[in-house]
Amino acid sequence: MRKDIELYCKDATEIFLDQSSVNLFFMNPSYVGSALEEYGGSLDSHINNVQSIDDYLSLLIRVAKHVEHSLAPDGSAFIMLQNQHNIVPRFCSLIETHTGLTVGQLFVWDFSDTENLKHLKYEKMGLIVHLYKGSFYVDPTKREYVLRIPFDPQKIKKYNDIGFIGSSIPEELYENFILAFSKEGDTFADIFGGTGTGIVSSVKLNRKAIYNDIAESQYKIATSRISDLNADEQ
Ligand SMILES: C[S@@+](CC[C@H](N)C(=O)[O-])C[C@H]1O[C@@H](n2cnc3c(N)ncnc32)[C@H](O)[C@@H]1O
Repeated sequence: MRKDIELYCKDATEIFLDQSSVNLFFMNPSYVGSALEEYGGSLDSHINNVQSIDDYLSLLIRVAKHVEHSLAPDGSAFIMLQNQHNIVPRFCSLIETHTGLTVGQLFVWDFSDTENLKHLKYEKMGLIVHLYKGSFYVDPTKREYVLRIPFDPQKIKKYNDIGFIGSSIPEELYENFILAFSKEGDTFADIFGGTGTGIVSSVKLNRKAIYNDIAESQYKIATSRISDLNADEQ
């Protein structure tokens, strides 16, 4: 295995990375409530069996405290809360109360042009919250930034022999954040890494990569994608 990639199969609430060692986090945790139903998931197969929005939010805050510890002083963390519009304001206020992180801009991943997702009831799905250390003022009129990137679940399906779980983010979306919020040689961490698209994108862009996912099935998919990358390079 290459030295610039670390892979873990752990609960994100129990992952301990070195202090200030990560320049960019991307988190796309499993969903809860209606967002989860929309993806066909069952409550007991996802995110520590949490049954309520309160438990879900407190779990995310526990993860955010680890993020705060390992985030570099000038680093950025993004958390994608998918179409969970109702929880974003509560999440942001908990972050500001319980962690030293600041909430910045809200990025909206708009894939409403994607034909095969027209059945989903929301047009703009991906709500991505920017978290960082310190404080700078974000002009409220510029708080929402829309990224229009199509989404093709079929593209990722081939990596997933146990079916389509949750969402898989296209490489292009990851690339946008990696290019804008890190530089070559920096460390990128995707701690709800799923199929591993985040670390694949980051390695292609010459970042060091840290992957984590609680599910062994997802960990195996990510590991095999990384091996494919290695093979391509040889
Ligand atoms: C929405 S998917 C991430 C998809 C990923 N962005 C991709 O492109 O494939 C959420 C992932 O979080 C993982 N997960 C759920 N609870 C977790 C936990 N407590 N710690 C770490 N990973 C967890 C699930 O196994 C699932 O793979």
